[in-house]
Amino acid sequence: MSEKLVLVTGACGEIGQALVQGLAQKGGYRIVTSDLMPPPDSIKSLTAEHVQGDLVYKIKTFYDYDFDIIFHLAASLSSKAEVATEEAHRINVEGTMGLLMLAAYRSEKYNKPVKFLFPSSIAAYGMASLEEKIAAGCVKEDEYNAPHTMYGCNKLYCEKLGMYYSRYFGQRHLDDKPPVMLDFRAIRFPGLVSAFTLPSAGTSDYGPEILHAAAQGKPYSCFVREDTKISFMAMPDAIKSLLMITDATREKLSHTVYNIAAFAITAGEFRDRAVKAFPGAQITFEPNSRRQGIVDSWPEDVNDSLARAEWGWKPDYDVDRFFNDYFLPEIRKRYNR
Ligand code: SER
Repeated sequence: MSEKLVLVTGACGEIGQALVQGLAQKGGYRIVTSDLMPPPDSIKSLTAEHVQGDLVYKIKTFYDYDFDIIFHLAASLSSKAEVATEEAHRINVEGTMGLLMLAAYRSEKYNKPVKFLFPSSIAAYGMASLEEKIAAGCVKEDEYNAPHTMYGCNKLYCEKLGMYYSRYFGQRHLDDKPPVMLDFRAIRFPGLVSAFTLPSAGTSDYGPEILHAAAQGKPYSCFVREDTKISFMAMPDAIKSLLMITDATREKLSHTVYNIAAFAITAGEFRDRAVKAFPGAQITFEPNSRRQGIVDSWPEDVNDSLARAEWGWKPDYDVDRFFNDYFLPEIRKRYNR
């Protein structure tokens, strides 16, 4: 069988690097990457072509390719997006819109749906207060869709745009012979933790930052309170979910947006486990009101029963397996501890 042509935008980011490695390992793909940055060594030999530059201005370039699958990961994350709001809107919304239009055009023209995978986020939720967050507990996809951040608004709107271009574009679904539309699938990710890369510009970053700092023996001041709780996941599970939903047959998917979950823990629990693994680790808490407010507006946990029922989702790593079988062995190798 011939290789599928895949585009991964934001390929130099945390999810991007891990996804390109996952696709290469799986095989059967010709991988085109794009990012503002040149490809790092971790993916350089795995990418057939790299398009470097601002996605919004590069969309025309992508009309030269016959992509079967698009993983659109490029985004300005939640903390950065709050300080550069217009720029975030441009990257997050205009970038997505441009690629959706490209995928819709190609699907119709070549009579073959382009698969469009979109990483959405727990930032698409917005709880009015900490009391509401605690009372809500574990939330479903269609609850509390009132984001407090530019990033969350962008993600929620792009979920809707994806649904629009894949179902209702131009109201052509009402024609006698409706055209082939693109095949849009979105996953709402929790905070992600990799043993190989560190995040930047996000607000769930305190989780991985606590762990990497402790492993390196560096003091770390956490920007949220110790009782702050949200859902987290090991990076390999995030990649597994993207590959699973990509491979799921269309008939199985009755929704376009799915939560996935692995473990919900507090910043204090991250500290406790870091100190246990690396005795003497210095982790303190100095909450930043703005970043605290963002995390307080995100749910404590998400209900992923739709993903489990429709495409067989199940994480490999609960909190114990995350630490014992993935993070600690890898990080000890990396930092020689
Ligand atoms: N991890 C992201 C952030 O903190 C949420 O999707 O911005």
